[in-house]
Amino acid sequence: MREEIAYHEYDVLVIGAGGAGLRAAIESAENGLKTAVLGKSLLGKAHTVMAEGGVAAALGNLDPQDGWETHFYDTMRSGHFINDYRMAEVHAKESPDRVLELEYWGAVFDRTPDGKIMQRPFGAHTFRRLAHVGDRTGKELIRTLEQKILTVKVDIFQEITATKLFKDQDRIAGCIAYYREDGRLAVFTAKAVVIATGGWGKAYKVTSNSWESTGDGAALAFRAGAELADMEMVQFHPTGMTWPPGVRGILVTEGVRGEGGLLFNSEGERFMEKYDPVRKELSSRDVVARSIYKEVRAGRGTPHGGAWLDITHKGAAFVKRKLPGMYEQFMALADVDITKTRFEVAPTIHYTMGGLRVDAYTASTNVPGLFAAGECAAGLHGANRLGGNSLSDILVFGRRAGAGATEYAKNSAMPKIDNAEVQAEVERVLAPLSRSEGENPYRLHEDLQEIMAAHVGIERNGPELEKGLARLQELRERTANMRAPGSRQFNPGWHSVFDVQNMCLLGEAIVRGAIERKESRGAQWRTDFPDELEEQGKVNYVQQVTDKGIVVRPEPVPPMPAELAELFTRGVAPGLANAARKE
Ligand code: FUM
Repeated sequence: MREEIAYHEYDVLVIGAGGAGLRAAIESAENGLKTAVLGKSLLGKAHTVMAEGGVAAALGNLDPQDGWETHFYDTMRSGHFINDYRMAEVHAKESPDRVLELEYWGAVFDRTPDGKIMQRPFGAHTFRRLAHVGDRTGKELIRTLEQKILTVKVDIFQEITATKLFKDQDRIAGCIAYYREDGRLAVFTAKAVVIATGGWGKAYKVTSNSWESTGDGAALAFRAGAELADMEMVQFHPTGMTWPPGVRGILVTEGVRGEGGLLFNSEGERFMEKYDPVRKELSSRDVVARSIYKEVRAGRGTPHGGAWLDITHKGAAFVKRKLPGMYEQFMALADVDITKTRFEVAPTIHYTMGGLRVDAYTASTNVPGLFAAGECAAGLHGANRLGGNSLSDILVFGRRAGAGATEYAKNSAMPKIDNAEVQAEVERVLAPLSRSEGENPYRLHEDLQEIMAAHVGIERNGPELEKGLARLQELRERTANMRAPGSRQFNPGWHSVFDVQNMCLLGEAIVRGAIERKESRGAQWRTDFPDELEEQGKVNYVQQVTDKGIVVRPEPVPPMPAELAELFTRGVAPGLANAARKE
C-alpha cells in the first residue's frame, strides 16, 4: 500500500524548538516569511529548560566596569583560542541587547535592590555577569519565547522528528519527518532550513542532558554534506548528582558555586585551592571537572565517586531564595537538605562545543540554504564553554540564523524534492517495524554509551581512542539493521532507531576529532599529549562525509585583528592580565 504523506511548503523551516529555534523562527516570521518550527517534544519542553544558572551578558548592572571586551576576552580565553573570534565578538557585543529584548517580551528576571536585572558570578567570568531567574533561567527563557512566538505567525509542529534532509542539486530543499504519536509521515519543502536541535549528550550515559539531546539535526546535516568542526570538544560539567543511581548526572547548577558553594575532598581539603589558587571553585569548567576527577582517582573521592559541595554556611533562607530549584531537587530526588548538609557531586557530560561549522554573521553552513544555531553549531565556545554562554548563544545566533535564513529565502525560488528520494527514505524509516530479525536499538544505545565512556571520556589517549574508533565503526554497521517490532503508535523503540543512528555517527566524529588533535586543550585532555601545543592551537579539525567516508582536515584558525589581539596583551580590566599569566 502506498504511504499517505502530508506535504507542506515554507519559506523558512526551523528544525528544533528550543531557545535557538524559537528565536530564529520569531526573526523570520517578523520579517514576513512563511515559517514553521518542528519540535521533537511539546512546545515549551525543549532541553533549554534545563539551563539553570543564568544567561551571560555584559550588562554591567553590578560591576559597571564589565563590557563586551571583557566578555569576549573571557570567552576566548576559556575556549583556549580555537573559538571563531568573530562569533565571540558578535556574541559579546549583542548579548546585552538580546537579554533586554527578552525582558521587554516579558521575562521576569531576579532584581537588584534598585530594580535592575540581577547578575551572579560564574566560573571564569571576570565579573558578575549571569542574568538569572533563581536557578530556573532556561525555563523562563523558553516561557518568554513561547509567549512571544504565539504573537507572530509561525506554524508549530509538535512531537515530530526529522529523519533526512533533502537537497535540490547543491542547495537544501527540506526534510521528511515522522510524528512521534502515530508515525504519520510529512515532507516539508523549504527555501531555507535552520537546524537548532541542540547537542548529543545522550551518546554518554552520565549526562545532564534530557532525552531530546541525540544530535538529530547535526547528524542529518552532516549526511547532507555540511561540515562539522571541533567535535572532540565535549564538556563535562563539574557538578552533576551522584546518588541515588537513577539521578546520576542530573545538573547541579554552577550557580551553587557562584553563590558561594565550596568543594571539598574526602579529607576535608578545599582542593581547588591547589588546582587554581586564583579562581578556585570558579575556575573554568574543564579545570574544575578535571580536578574532581583527579581527586577521585587519587583516592580522595566521596562514597559515590565525586566531591563534596557545601553551601550550608550561607544559611537556609539565602539558599532557598537563590537556589530554590537545587533545594527542591535534592530534597525530592536524594532526600538531602542542602541548607543543612554538604552533598556529593561529580562531573557529568553537559555540552557539545563542536558541531556544524557556520558563518559568524549569517549562521549559514557550507550547504546553500542550510543554517544552524545553538548547541548544534560550532565556533563560539572553542575548546571549553563558559557557563551562561549557551543561553546568550541561542539568543544571539538564533536571531542571526533567522535573519540569515530570511535573507536567503527572500532571494530564492522554492526548491524541488525528488519523489524517488522521498520513497527511498520512507522505506528506510519503516523497515525496522517489519524486520523479523535485527538489533535492539536500546542495546545498541547502551553499547554506544559504554564505548564513549570507556574510550573517549574525560581522560583520553591514542591507543584507547583507536580502540574506540574501531568499536564505533563496528557498532555503526550494526545500526543499519535495527528492529523495532510493533506498530507506529507510540513506539519509542522505533524512535530510538534513528536517535541511535545519529548518535553513533556523531560519536564517531568525536573520536576522530580526538585522535587528530594530538594535544591537551580545554575539554580535550590527552595523557599521551599532556600539553597545549602552540601549532595545534592554530587549527580547528573539520569533518565532512565524502564518497570515501568521513574525512577530517585541519583548518587554520584565522588570526584576530590587531585591535582584538591587543586585549590579550594589555588585559581588559585592572589586574586581569596578571591573573591570566598566573594561570
Ligand atoms: O550550571 C549551570 O547552571 C549551567 C549553565 C550553563 O551550562 O550555561
